[in-house]
Amino acid sequence: MFGISIVGTGIYRPGLTVTNEDMAKIVDTNDEWISTRTGIRERRMSNGEPTWYMGTHAAQQAIDEAGIDPKDIAYVICATITSDFHTPSTACIIQREIGAVNAACFDLNAACSGFIYALDTAKRFLQTEDTAKYILVVSSENLSKITNFEDRSSCILFADGAAAFLVERSEKLYGCWLGADGQGAKYIYARADAPSNPFMTEPRFHVADETDESITHKQLVQDGKEVYKFATKALPTAAVNAAERAGIAVTDIDVFVPHQANLRIIETAAKNLGVSMDKLVLNIDKRGNTSSASIPSAFHDGVCSGQIKRGDKVCLVGFGAGLTLGSAIIEY
Ligand code: UT7
Repeated sequence: MFGISIVGTGIYRPGLTVTNEDMAKIVDTNDEWISTRTGIRERRMSNGEPTWYMGTHAAQQAIDEAGIDPKDIAYVICATITSDFHTPSTACIIQREIGAVNAACFDLNAACSGFIYALDTAKRFLQTEDTAKYILVVSSENLSKITNFEDRSSCILFADGAAAFLVERSEKLYGCWLGADGQGAKYIYARADAPSNPFMTEPRFHVADETDESITHKQLVQDGKEVYKFATKALPTAAVNAAERAGIAVTDIDVFVPHQANLRIIETAAKNLGVSMDKLVLNIDKRGNTSSASIPSAFHDGVCSGQIKRGDKVCLVGFGAGLTLGSAIIEY
């Protein structure tokens, strides 16, 4: 089977630790509500570190662990929804910082499923380009810059951070399934700039069934209940489909690394999949939801704690805005 091998992983945790008690100082909430409804006790937030900076540190750690020459990296793919610039891409800045001078670079936006989409893109490049030796897949997110800190139902969830995988081709087990449902775009979104130019005659262009036009700020808006419903079905659907593509049963999987959005979502999804909780890597209590960085960060933590071992069949599975969903099954 054509698969990938992870030769290095890296992580960056930004400077600020924000506890539930800290959140209670800015919105009407409390530790008991947040921890029982979400499983989150604290999260890291940027103390000013830009997205490219966090991504660079995670990438450098993955390169150092692999002990490779960055000139042998053929692509830098960065999953992010919180770039520092519209252009250049975060991937280009990371390339400059790590000295991956021979790499082609681009960013990819699939929200919290972004890392799975990026990993599968990397696998396809490796499969079709004999000369591509290594690919750096990095996720970096500064969600706090698009978080509405006046909305207690969402601001308690989101956090910042980065993580990276350095991958090469291998004959290892691999299966990936990606999906999306644009009908659910309205359930979680953050607006970008509206069209604007000196010749415009229409003040606003209306699109039927689009996200709420009355909301003009650029912070994250979500319908928590709809996202919750989607997520509890999306995680099992994606995992089962990826297992089928890998040619294995869900029961053959040693470890699951789910998107760390809400512990209750993960518990319900695990129950629906018939998987016991001890097979899941969880770091949501200390990290919160870092969007595309959540899965590779949890993977890195799982490797460091010994929960993920070489040879394990690992299921990475996520969902997010779009709505998007996806799962990759790899052998570590
Ligand atoms: O990467 C994807 C990101 N998004 C998600 O994964 C979101 C998925 N959804 C969720 O995680 C959950 O729906 C939430 C955590 C957002 C909300 O949990 P819930 O159990 O669905 O709560 P709820 O919205 O039904 O609210 C229950 C009550 C409400 O009060 P009333 O109307 O019953 O009086 C809310 O106003 O809890 C209230 N509430 C809060 N209370 C204290 C909402 N947020 C808070 C809060 N602290 N932070």
